[in-house]
Parts: sequence; C-alpha cells; structure tokens
Amino acid sequence: MARLLAARGWTVAISGRRVDRLDEVARSSDHIRPYPLDVTDPVAVQRVLGQLALELGHIELFVFGAATWQPLSVGDYDFDQFQRLVNTNLMGFVRLANPVVAQMAAQGGGQLAVIASVAGYFGLPRAAAYNATKGALINLLQTMRTELEPQQIKVRMIAPGFFKSELTAKNDFPMPFLMETDAAARRAVDGLLNSDRFEIAFPRRLVWPLKLMRMLPYPLFFAITRKMMPKR
Ligand SMILES: NC(=O)c1ccc[n+]([C@@H]2O[C@H](COP(=O)([O-])OP(=O)(O)OC[C@H]3O[C@@H](n4cnc5c(N)ncnc54)[C@H](OP(=O)(O)O)[C@@H]3O)[C@@H](O)[C@H]2O)c1
Repeated sequence: MARLLAARGWTVAISGRRVDRLDEVARSSDHIRPYPLDVTDPVAVQRVLGQLALELGHIELFVFGAATWQPLSVGDYDFDQFQRLVNTNLMGFVRLANPVVAQMAAQGGGQLAVIASVAGYFGLPRAAAYNATKGALINLLQTMRTELEPQQIKVRMIAPGFFKSELTAKNDFPMPFLMETDAAARRAVDGLLNSDRFEIAFPRRLVWPLKLMRMLPYPLFFAITRKMMPKR
C-alpha cells in the first residue's frame, strides 16, 4: 500500500517494529519514510506521533494495519494469547486513535482507515482471539464513523479476505480465493482513494457468501460452522 500511494505522489510514513524491513520498503521510493514503532508501547506511540507532526505536519490518510495472528486449538481460550492479540490488533489502534483524531480535527479533517478483516464478521473455530479482535475493531469503527463525521474525519474499514503475507504463511488450512499481496494492496488503495464508502471488502466472491452467512438464523449458521471443526 505504501509503494502504491508513493507512486501516486503521496508522502508516506510507514511503521512497524522491524527497522530492516521498513528501510527496505523506504529504499524503494523517495516518498516513503520509515518511522519504527511498536504499537504496544504507549511511550513510543506518543514519541513517533510527535515526530510525525513535526516532520510531516498534516495527516491526510492514516491506515492502521498492525496485527498478529495465532491459530488456537479448539476449546483453547488461552489468556496470554488473547492478551497478545488484543494488545496489538485492537489496543494498538486505540493507543493511536485519540492523538490522530485530535490532529485531524485540528487540521480540518482527514481519512482514518483500519485494516480489519472479513474474519471480524463472526466467530469461527480455531480463530477465537483473532476474530474477536477484528470484530471489535469493526464495531469500534462503526461508532467512530458516525461520531467523527461532523469533524470531517472519514472513518474507513478495510475487510480483506485471504491474501499472501507472513501472517497467512503459517496457515495449515485451505484459504479460499487467496489473493496475491499486490492485488490486495491495490484493492485497498483503490477503495480508499476512489470511494467514500465505510467498508472496503474484497474479493467479492468470498465477501458476499460471508455476508449472507451473517444474516442466517443461528441454527443454520451453526450448522455451517460445525462443519468447519477439524476432524478428530
Ligand atoms: N493476510 C490476510 O489474509 C489478511 C486477511 C484479512 C486481514 N488481514 C489484515 O491485514 C493486515 C496486514 O496483515 P498481513 O497479512 O500483511 O500480515 P503481516 O505481513 O504479518 O503484516 C503485519 C504487519 O503488522 C506489523 N506489526 C505487528 N505487530 C506490530 C506491533 N506490535 N507494532 C507495530 N507493527 C506491528 C508487522 O511488522 P513488524 O513485525 O515489523 O512489527 C507487519 O508489518 C493485518 O491487520 C491483518 O490482520 C490480513
């Protein structure tokens, strides 16, 4: 996404914990600048946002995509795993939300986007913690969309299906309609720049069946999710 935005002339600040990976992306364009950050560290969040405000000033578009994922065994609701995922995927965004909203309000508006997932539509076997964080993000963003509209802050929710990444490389189950990384990035950037809608969800052939599934009465819904349980 950073490379695509940079190619369109945007100045892009990128963050993550691994400095070498940030530098690698930053080297690909004069428009990309690395700002190493661990979103679980509240002091670092304040420091980096201050640095950004000083060096770049205006934030036109903010995209939060930091996440971690770990499949859990069926029936396992391990506290430490939950805490780790919630702390990054959900609270990582919450740590940034107030200062980013304050800056956008002060500058007269902006776009605030979060990469949630179609996994946030409902709970599925083995994905208890991850799906819960993505579901919570979608819920939070729905609130923010309405609340921040008067300040000209456009809140966007990106809901991708499966795409190739380090995160999905560890999956040992079939991933229907798995997308190439670049194709997914392009869908997200096009959605952000060429539309106003709240939800940017793709690919459609996965999204629509999932949306229909979300509307099913619970007995039918659970008849489907029961089939997703690993064979003993
Ligand atoms: N791949 C899929 O099929 C899929 C589907 C739906 C939604 N998504 C979502 O898409 C987003 C990108 O995921 P991805 O699949 O591209 O996986 P990824 O390659 O593992 O990307 C996750 C990114 O988050 C960063 N990150 C993780 N923990 C962080 C922390 N504590 N502080 C700052 N940065 C942190 C990672 O960089 P460092 O490790 O260097 O910090 C990495 O750049 C995630 O929100 C994911 O949930 C992915």
